[in-house]
Parts: sequence; structure tokens; C-alpha cells
Amino acid sequence: MTAVEWLRHANADEVAERAVEAILELADSAIAARGRFRLVLAGGSTPERAYRRLAERRTDYTGWQFYLGDERCLPADHPERNSTMIQRSWLDRVAVAGQAVHWIPAELGPERAASVYEETVRDALPFDVVLLGMGEDGHTASLFPGQSHDPGRLVVPVTAAPKPPPERVSLNYGALCAARAVLVLVTGEGKQEAVRRWRAGEALPVAQLRCRSGLRVLLDEAAWPDS
Ligand code: 6PG
Repeated sequence: MTAVEWLRHANADEVAERAVEAILELADSAIAARGRFRLVLAGGSTPERAYRRLAERRTDYTGWQFYLGDERCLPADHPERNSTMIQRSWLDRVAVAGQAVHWIPAELGPERAASVYEETVRDALPFDVVLLGMGEDGHTASLFPGQSHDPGRLVVPVTAAPKPPPERVSLNYGALCAARAVLVLVTGEGKQEAVRRWRAGEALPVAQLRCRSGLRVLLDEAAWPDS
């Protein structure tokens, strides 16, 4: 059983602020203990709010290494790629060395990009922090309901995602859990039903994260099911 900690906050801004504080705190302790901080980033609007706030903090990024939990198979620099959103909202606005950023080469197509990124992830484990969002159908990263993936792979190709674009690359459950801390950011009324189903024990993708570190779910009141 994965221990899930449900951390409720008033609104999406507060969720973003708490996420920023957690990331900065975990970064400090990782740097102090091991001299580096390996962070896996997520796409989605809730994490984006946190990135915008991080861009405004004065932070020394020495030792930080950035990875991605999932990517859409679109040309490099396409505006709808997760990497583009993260660059625009955060990394292009701060001093981070290019070698510290490990994007998924999703422009190569799902299968090839997944094999290339498998090596990157293997060399990076365990991560210090994995940041995730959750979709209205309970998907997380690009692990969608009803789709199974070879548990022997750290990174998997996705060819029929119900959320466009259909072709994606995602870290697999095991890789997302190979972390010292896993934070899931969930905001908005549209997520209420998935949160209710998750808490009721349904096998949603997000509920299949069996992480030894446990999961910290930061959610706003709008996403919290009323009963
Ligand atoms: C993607 C995202 C996706 C996202 C969730 C939640 O590529 O589409 O990585 O997995 O994290 O859909 O997104 P929101 O925070 O925007 O609801």
C-alpha cells in the first residue's frame, strides 16, 4: 500500500505556492546531502503555475538536473510541447546550464524517443522529486486508463492517447516512483470525480503509482469531493 497524504489548500495559487516551497526545501536538502538535485517535471496547467512562481524566486541552480515525466510527440520547440511550456514559464527566465536539462527527444517518435530516454532515466535514478499532475480521467504523466505498459521498461511509448496528441512518451509507473518524494498537483472542480474515485480505491492510473516514498497530493478545495 502506498501512503497517500492528502494536503488540501484554499485555491490553485496556494497549491502552486506550497509546491514551490516543497521543491525548494527538498532541493536544499538534496544538495546538502548529495551535491545534486534531480527533479522530474510535469506538463499541465497546475504545475505551470508553480513554474511561474519558481522563476520569480532567487535560486542558485548549481547541482539541479531537470527531467521530464512525459512529452508529446511534436516537433522540437512546438508550442504545445511540455518542454516548451516549462522553458517559457521558468527555465528561459533563470540561469540554468543547458547540460542540466534533459528533455525527452519526442520529435523522434514514441518508440525511438522512449528507447533513447530509457538510458537517460536509468543513469538518473533515483530521482529526488517527481512532480505530477492528474487529468480528469485519472491519468498521470501520459499513463492513461485502459492502456497497459511493459513493466520492464522505465520509459514507454504511447500511441493512442485519448488526450491529443495521440503519440506521446511517458515515464512508466516504476520510474515515476523511483524517487525520494512524489508530489501530485491537482486543482479545479473538473478533478473532483477522479479524486473521489481514487479515494474509493478505483484502479485509475494515478492510483497505480506504488511509491515507497508515499505520495503527497496537493489539491485545492475545488478538487476535493464534497462527500
Ligand atoms: C500532458 C500532461 C498531463 C497533465 C494532466 C493534468 O502532457 O497533457 O503532462 O499529464 O499533467 O493532464 O493537467 P492539468 O494540470 O492541466 O489539469
